[in-house]
This record gives sequence, C-alpha cells and structure tokens, in this order.
Amino acid sequence: MSTGEIEKATLVIFGATGNLSRIKLMPALYSLDKAGQLHPETKILATGRRDWDKAKCITEVRSWVEASTGERFDNDAFQRFSERLDYYKVDYSYSDIWSSLKQYLESSISSGELPGNMAFYMAIRPAEFGLVIDGLGDNGLLDENSGWRRVVIEKPFGYDLSSACILQQLISHHLQEQQIFRIDHYLGKGTVQNINVFRFANTMLEPLWNRNYIDHVQITHSETAGVGTRAAYYDSSGAMRDMIQSHLLQLLSLVAMEPPASMDAEDLRDEKVKVLKSIRPITEEDLSTRAFRAQYAAGEVNNEKVRGYLDEKDVPADSNTETYAALKLYIDNWRWRGVPFYLRTGKRMAKRQSMISICFRHPPQQLFRDVSKLEMKQNWLLLGIQPCNCLRMEVTVKEPGFEMQMRQTSLNASLLDEGEIKVDAYEDLLLDVMQGDRSLFLRNDEVEYAWKIVDPVIDAWSKDKSPLLTYPAGSWGPPESRVIFDKAQTRWRHSLDPVA
Ligand code: BG6
Repeated sequence: MSTGEIEKATLVIFGATGNLSRIKLMPALYSLDKAGQLHPETKILATGRRDWDKAKCITEVRSWVEASTGERFDNDAFQRFSERLDYYKVDYSYSDIWSSLKQYLESSISSGELPGNMAFYMAIRPAEFGLVIDGLGDNGLLDENSGWRRVVIEKPFGYDLSSACILQQLISHHLQEQQIFRIDHYLGKGTVQNINVFRFANTMLEPLWNRNYIDHVQITHSETAGVGTRAAYYDSSGAMRDMIQSHLLQLLSLVAMEPPASMDAEDLRDEKVKVLKSIRPITEEDLSTRAFRAQYAAGEVNNEKVRGYLDEKDVPADSNTETYAALKLYIDNWRWRGVPFYLRTGKRMAKRQSMISICFRHPPQQLFRDVSKLEMKQNWLLLGIQPCNCLRMEVTVKEPGFEMQMRQTSLNASLLDEGEIKVDAYEDLLLDVMQGDRSLFLRNDEVEYAWKIVDPVIDAWSKDKSPLLTYPAGSWGPPESRVIFDKAQTRWRHSLDPVA
C-alpha cells in the first residue's frame, strides 16, 4: 500500500459500463472518495459504447454503489462522488474516435475541467487492449507533456508465453515500463499484503521458513460459483490460466521469496521473479504426477441443485476445459529444495475460500510413549485470505485429564479488529495507481516466467482430447487429485479449523 502523495488526476475508464466497473471499480472509487483518499479535484471519465450521458451514468453508478454497499450507502457521500463523474461515449468503429477523444481531453485539460495527470483503465476485453492502446499512443495521448500518463491493464496478460510477448511488444511500443500497471487483484487483498509484514516484520518465523522445518505448502482458492455468464472467456481459458498462472503463482512467490533489499517495487519484484525462475519445469514425463484437472458435473451448492459445466450457457457440449486444476511445484533453490508446493483451484466447490496452509514437519522424536507417531499431528500455519482475514497457528496440546491424550488447538490472530472495515483490493490498487506505486503490480518478466511454468501443462492438456474426470458441484473436487501428493498421508487442507 502506497503512502505517497495524493495528486489530482483524471481516471479514464474504458469499458466503464461493464461488469468490472459495476462490481469493483465504481464501488471502490466511491469508498476511496468517502474515506477522503481522492484529491478533491480528481475526476472520473467513464467511457463506453452505450448511449449514455452524464445523468444516466450517475444513475447507473448510484445503483451499482447501492448494491455493493447495502446499508452502508451514504447519500451525501454519493452526491459528492457523483460530482467527479462524467461520461464519454466511444464507438470503436468510428475512424475519428481517437482524434475526437484527444480534442475533448485536451480542451478539458486546458479549461481546467480535467486534471492533466491521466490514468487510463482498460476494463475491456483483452482483444481490445491493442486497439485502445494504439489509439491512445498514436494520437499522443500517452505523451507526458501535460502531466503523467499511466495505463492499467487487467489480466489475462496474453494466452500463453508467445501471446504475452506480443502484447508486451505492442504496449511497450507506446509506453515506458513505469507507465504500465498490470493488475493482479490478489495483491491488493489484505492478508496477501500481510504476508510480507508477517514474514519480514517479525523475527520468530524466519528460522523456520525453509526446507528444514516445512513439510509442504498448500495454496487453495475454491469458489462455489460456476462459470456464470463468462463462458465465452472462461471456456478458452480454464482454471490453470484463469487462476493458477496469475493469482496462485503470485501467492506462491510471496510465500517463498527471499527478503528484498527494500520494499520498493523493483526490489520486491526482483525477488518474486527469482522464485518463479527457480521453479522446476514440468516435463511430459512427470506431468501426470504434477498436474491434475477436472470439470464440474451437476450437483448441489448451498442446498440448490446446479447444472454441470457442459450444460452451462455458451459452453460447447464437448468442451474439455478444466474448472478444477491442481499443480505440484518445486522451487529448486537453497531454501526450498524438495518442499512441494501444492496449488489448487476450482469452481463450484464446497466452499468459497482462499487460504495458504503451511504444514510443518513431524517432531523428530516420539517422546510421548502412549501416542503413536501417526496420531501426532503436524503444526500448521494458516493464512486465511477470504472470507476470513486471519492467521492461525495450529499446535498440539495435552487434553485435560489423567491420560496422555493430545489435541490440536489454534492460536488465532484475526487481522481485523472489531469495528475495522476490510478495504477492498481494488481500493488499494486504484490508490496506488494514482500515487504511482507499482509494488503491488506485475512486472512483465513475472508474467512471462509464470507462463513458462504453466505453458507445458496447458499444451499437453490441449492435445489430450479424452473426456475429463468430473466432480459433483458442491464437492471438494475429485479424490484422484491426490495423485500429485509426494506422501501417501498428505491430505488437502479444506478448513482453517483444526482437523479432528
Ligand atoms: C478472477 C478470475 O481473476 O478471479 C475469476 O477470472 C475468479 O474466474 C476471480 O472467480 C476470483 O477472485 P476473488 O477475488 O473473488 O477470489
């Protein structure tokens, strides 16, 4: 999170009438404004294809913010926020769209209606990134003559390594790296930012944070939602590209990286890249024990019957896109050699949850005669990312009574005190864009190394046309996914609560 100066700026949102803007961006900007985090003169220019005007835009945004804030909606605060908003219709099929936009922006800057610092947010389909960035760049709108110019890009950054390189070529033709903000919204989540604080502002864990004490690490993202209305995108992506290549590999690099020279963006990202570079490549020979995929079938979620993936709207009947993916990765460096990192994600699973579970080794010696080693549980350190923002340390204690019985108990550190409100990831990230702090954004080499890790798996899966294993919606995925575990006794950790 940046503590830099809050400058006045214009945030131009491309795709402002779409889903991301409705669910995340506008509610986040409203909250920032309400919390006094935006410069009083900062303006938001929503652009979209729809035939809206300023009044219509304000009415729509109001309904989005109301839906997102519920009882916390504050009419006066929205009134103030709406004064920052304006709407500009863009139709990409008009040849003069860019020159008209340029004229509009330049005259608004010179009349003082819009601040000269500008962040352009690409809340549009990836296929349109090129068109918009070329349009802005070719018309001089990315030149920094009348203030800074920044471009915010949402994942996916390409489809594989080669398309990511092509995208990068296009972007870097118009922009310097320091003008580019590649968003991975997981980096804006509270617990995720806390990983660094927890690791590097405390001395207690560092001596244990390595192969000598850690047995394995699990990183889980599960959701109960299905593909919803996003099949057009998701079916050509799948869980590996959608979640593992981006969010889960970012979490892994934060858990595994060495202490950076400073918390500055470049130092931080250098360390994350070193982790990604050290990951042992997945080969054709070890694919079946290092990667696993499946697809949800019909089932029940929250007591409601739901259809299987193949029956979802816009999903081809013979699709073999994975909605569940799991991966075993080894980081071949001094600290982590031999420690498996298990990553898994799935849609339509039993619970909506993201967590990092660090499993420590068994004690080296069995001192308690009446308790067999198998009964002795391992210590776990659990970082709850959502819905619980918390940190738990699971230890073994003696049960009260005359017998030597043991049980697991959790030392529980909630990361939010009572009355403290969770800041949405987008609030933090949007603020960082305005303040020019790129430490929570991805550098291009991170994106490329992440593709290098998953590309061999995606490639092999795309060639294998046999029907996928399925799992009933509302379950924890197929038990066969345990094929990737190194040890027979390893189990997926589904909960923050101690395992009985
Ligand atoms: C997005 C993916 O990046 O992250 C979605 O495209 C996924 O498929 C979402 O549902 C999960 O984010 P969160 O913040 O809800 O865990």
